[in-house]
Parts: sequence; C-alpha cells; structure tokens
Amino acid sequence: MTLSEELSKIVGDAFADEGLDFAFGAVKPADRPDLAQFQCNGALAAAKSVKQNPRALAETIAGRLRDQTLFQEITVAGPGFINLTLTDNSLSARLGDIADGDSFGGWRKPAPEKIVMDYGGPNVAKPLHVGHLRAAIIGESLKRIFRFVGDQVVGDVHLGDWGLPMGQLITELRREQPDLPYFDADFSGSYPSEPPVVLADLERLYPQASAACKADAVRADEAREATSELQKGRTGYRALWRHFVALSRASIEREYADLGVTFDLWKGEADVDPLIEDMAAALRSKGLVENSDGAQIIRVARDDDRKEVPPLMLFKSDGAVTYGTTDLATILDRVQSESPDRIIYVVDQRQRLHFEQVFRAAERAGYFDAEKLEHLWFGTMNGKDGKPFKTREGGALRLRDLIDTVTERAKLRIAESGLAEGYGEEETHDVARKVGVAALKFADLSNPRVSDYIFDLDRFMAFEGKTGPYLLYASVRVKSVLAKAKEKNAGAPGAVVIEAPEERALALVLLAFGEAVREAHQKRAPHVLCDHAFQLAQGFSKFYAACRIADEQDAEIRASRLTLASMVGGQLGLVLNLLGFDAPTRM
Ligand code: ARG
Repeated sequence: MTLSEELSKIVGDAFADEGLDFAFGAVKPADRPDLAQFQCNGALAAAKSVKQNPRALAETIAGRLRDQTLFQEITVAGPGFINLTLTDNSLSARLGDIADGDSFGGWRKPAPEKIVMDYGGPNVAKPLHVGHLRAAIIGESLKRIFRFVGDQVVGDVHLGDWGLPMGQLITELRREQPDLPYFDADFSGSYPSEPPVVLADLERLYPQASAACKADAVRADEAREATSELQKGRTGYRALWRHFVALSRASIEREYADLGVTFDLWKGEADVDPLIEDMAAALRSKGLVENSDGAQIIRVARDDDRKEVPPLMLFKSDGAVTYGTTDLATILDRVQSESPDRIIYVVDQRQRLHFEQVFRAAERAGYFDAEKLEHLWFGTMNGKDGKPFKTREGGALRLRDLIDTVTERAKLRIAESGLAEGYGEEETHDVARKVGVAALKFADLSNPRVSDYIFDLDRFMAFEGKTGPYLLYASVRVKSVLAKAKEKNAGAPGAVVIEAPEERALALVLLAFGEAVREAHQKRAPHVLCDHAFQLAQGFSKFYAACRIADEQDAEIRASRLTLASMVGGQLGLVLNLLGFDAPTRM
C-alpha cells in the first residue's frame, strides 16, 4: 500500500463508520504544504449526498480520526477540507519499512499481467528519425515501469519491412545493377551471402526511388509489381529483401542502443505474411468480409460513433494487403505466440484512426478484447515555430545526427560548468553522451505524453532547473556525498530521527514514491516519475544545505542522515532507471 492509500483507507473507514461511502475518504498530498501534509476533500461531496453541513461533517470525521496515534494534527479548513499531518515517528517508522529491499517504497501491482508492447516501428531503408524517437523513449520507460510493478513485458520492435517501399528499393537497384542474379527470374544457383549494397546505398536508393515513383507512373507501376512479386515469394526478391532487412536492422539496433532502448522481439510486418491467407479465409467464413468495389473490407463502424470510422481494408482491389491487414494479423500472431493479457502500442497520434479500426476488427474477429488493446498515442515534437521539428535544411532530423548534436552540446555545457575536469577523452565523451541523451529523454518524458512540446536544446541542456542533466548531476552528487562519508568513517546508517524541517520534507518525498509509481503505471505516464525525481533532487539539495551529514557530531543523528541520503541515492537511481537514463558514475 502506498502512504496515500494507507491514509485513504483510514479516512475512508471513518466515513464508512458514519454510514457514508468509503470512497469519500480519498487522501492526497496537501495543496498547501505549509498548512498540512495531506488533505481529504471528501466531506464536501459526502455532505451534499446526505444534505448535511459539510463543515460539520468534516468535524465529525476529524473527531473520529483524532484517536489515531498516526496523526500529529488534524484540522478542518475552509468549507470542509480535512487537513492531516503525521507525527515524525510515523514518518520514520514508514521510512524504516522501505529502507531495506530494492524497491525503495515503489508500488507493486496486485495482479500482474503479461503484456506485449509495440514501441518501435522503424522502417527498413529509411533512417530512424525524430518521429520514431518519442515512441522509443516513452515505450522504453513504460516497459521499465510495467516491469518494475510486476508485469511481464515483451517489447517488440515491429519493423516496417513489408509493403511498397520494399518494391521501390528492388526496382531502383535493378536500374543500377541489372545484372545481379536477384533479378534473373531463371537463376537457379545460390544467391551470394554478402549483400550487394551497403547501408548508405539503401539510404540513397530509397528517397531516389520514392521520388521517381511520385514523378513517373510507369516507375510506380514497376515498384507495385515488384512488391507484389516479393510478397508472392519470388526467390530472388526475397533473397535481396533479406539483405535489406539485415543491413537496416544492424544500424537501427545500434541507434536504439545509443538511446538505451532495447527490444525482446525483432519481428516485422513481413513475419505475419504467412498468416494472412488463412486469416482471411477464416474471417470470410465468419461472414465478416465484404466486397466493396473489388476490395475486401471488414466493417467496423458503430451506431454510436460520433466520427466516421471507415472499414478496415483487408485486401485492395489488386489483392495487395494494407497496413491494417498486417496489424490485424500481428494481433493474431501475438495471441498465438505470446498469449498476452494486453497489447500496448506506443505510436504517434496521427495513427489513432488506424488503431481504432484495427482494434475493432480484432474484436469482431474474436482475437482480442478491444478494451485490452491500448493505443498510447503521443503529441509531436515541434520546432520553435510550433510546427513539427525539421532540420535547417527542412528535412526530418535523423536520430543519429540528433544523438551527435546532443553529445556535442553536452560536452560544451560540461566544460562550462567545470565538470568532468581532468577526465580522459573516452570518459568525457561517455559522460557527455549520457548527459545529452538524458537531456533529450527528460525533455520528452517530463511533458504529459499527449502534449506537443518544443525542441529547445538550450533549455534541455541546463544544469539548473527541471532537466535531465540536473537530475544526473544530483544523483552523482548523492553518491559522492555517501562516498565521502565512508572515507570519513562516518559509521553505518541507522534509524531515521526527524528533527529539521528539511528532513521532514525529504521524508515525505521519499514516502510519496509509491504513489508516484502507482500513478505513472495507472495513467501510463512517465512524467509523474519525472516530477518525483525532480522533487527528490530538490528535497535532497535543501536537506544537504541545511543539515550536516558526515560531520554531524551526534552519532544517532548522523546515522539517521546517512540513511536518508542513501535512500535518496537508491530511490533516485531507481527512478532514473525507470525513465530509461544511464547515469555516469561520476561527472
Ligand atoms: N512503421 C510504422 C511507421 O513508421 C509504425 C508502426 C507502428 N506499430 C504498429 N504496430 N503499427 O509509421
């Protein structure tokens, strides 16, 4: 139970004893921390429901709570808010409960689930760009949060490796190197194991092909034809395509690794291709498929729809599958190979309608309860002009360039701030990359997922304020405070005794961790943990400014402060890990 849950239960019981709904007892941290630590506003609604005076009811509830030794003070304020302050002993006792163990007071889920999380979606032969950045950053953090609370999560990259771009690449390469065996339909030998191109060729060929297809209908037809032959299994095309996928995957994996993002499954859209024929036959026999101008569709609209929800197109009139077909088949595949309780997609908000169609079709097909298919969409990273972020040249910024940019910028900042002085070149670079990536990730995660935000490197990179670099620095500093205490033989940590207001404030932040984890999980909202990390860092810095630790004369107080500091170190390290940061050991 989190502290807020524990308090809500106590206050809820008091409401129940008055014959009122237990739920009125919900307790949260006080809006005015100068007046109290926690508050319950339930008396207002409760009084309304039974036509009583809210203040009088609040007084009655407060009266019932006063015999609890937990509280230092209970007051009723304004129209009937119940303000609660805990005794220092109750705070210390609860800190004692979470001091050992590796969860540092983090909440654990009573009924864990098995979840497939889809937070990649990069496309073969197209460089990873910032559009894929948010999915990866948010998805990685959510995966870690879900795992921490106890869920079993399988992360799937869901590579975009099927469809028209593949045919475009094949035809473009055929124009450049027509003599390769892959293009000879009568070739019966074995294809070379080495790819005929390098990654840079792919990244050149794809935009070239896509422009050519836009400008020239003949080229577009060629590419469509090649796509369809590839999908039907033409061996030379398949062999070539496997090279494309392998080349791309290697580079995509490296870039994700630099961001601290990993996947358990490296499946792609192509993996479900073999399922599609049988899937379609079964859907037809269930009577779910209709003909519409030669195309085959599944209707998903409902009478109460406020917006039009068009049917999911299973096959186009030329027989080609769509993005919807592969996503539907992927659900079937995930059910068969992972039997998950839930599937979560971390994908751009522009795909909301797509997922609505796919989820409804999956439910009609009997594959999955649409309630347990979640599209966690997110807003856009914008430039200072408020439009989706572009490079100065007007293109989408490549992830590789972005990582290089933040690393360089971090190097400057680190030097300006007099950090990492005298470190070797390798370590400096490593610290800079960690700081740069943390700056980027924190800026992304600290906004509510659904909001757009503005890309502003100067702000992201600051060592003061609510930023990634500040938090990394804070965590390194706590570690160094503890290391120095050890050098000074300050002794072992001991039971927490609270005296200074800064100690009390820090204790409350440490104890709020459980609720932060619960809320971050429940709302799928890493920004809640960003807030917690920031409060923890600030709480520590005020505590450290006001209270001696290693130099404290009183052994009991010194031991208590060592406990507080090491709990901050542990909890902050854990939160930074849940956010997906990689903290340097020193900086
Ligand atoms: N490859 C897609 C894109 O770049 C994203 C895939 C997202 N995941 C999914 N299951 N549809 O737009």
